[in-house]
Amino acid sequence: MLPYEKLLLENKAWAEEQKHTDPEFFSRLAAQQAPKFLWIGCSDSRVPADKITGTEPGEIFVHRNIANLVVNTDINFLSVLQYAVEVLKVEHVIVCGHYGCGGVKAAMNNHHYGIINHWLKEIKDIYRFQREVVDLLETEEERVDKLVELNVIEQVFNLAKTSIIQHAWKQEQRPQIHGWVYGINNGIIKPICEMDYDSEIDPLYRYDNL
Ligand code: CO
Repeated sequence: MLPYEKLLLENKAWAEEQKHTDPEFFSRLAAQQAPKFLWIGCSDSRVPADKITGTEPGEIFVHRNIANLVVNTDINFLSVLQYAVEVLKVEHVIVCGHYGCGGVKAAMNNHHYGIINHWLKEIKDIYRFQREVVDLLETEEERVDKLVELNVIEQVFNLAKTSIIQHAWKQEQRPQIHGWVYGINNGIIKPICEMDYDSEIDPLYRYDNL
């Protein structure tokens, strides 16, 4: 059997199993989705949003990219955010990084990886501003993991800088934003930071006519 054929076989078995345990499963989901969560995670294959949170289809709206970045000029990301916040009306936005992230590691060295360097520049900038804190740590693993946490905090701030979030905060006092880091070694998610409609943000980024 070819490797991809296994995926199709597994899919058939999964669909059968779902129908067997919950005959209404597919007709119910086909009618609507009403997820309470938007997940912004890393594309890393070891961090599947639904599996590690025990969420079922329909429960979590997912955007993944390399190193879970919130880039305020990324039309793909902004479309996901706007749809999740304004149409699906999610109550929580979660930025979830993970320890040992290859994207963060790559941003900390001088190797040219091709086009991805443009993407990783966002992380290089965070490293540049936080160099004193990060370089205090002894091992490369510790330094990468520290920057993983700082990156998540920065991406939470980046969310708060968008007019989409600020508008929803002003109008409906939601969503709450969470910064988490997942441990590939132990499967545990560590909450790092949170922001809410009444959180302070640098006045420079605050829009007062929303
Ligand atoms: Co990663």
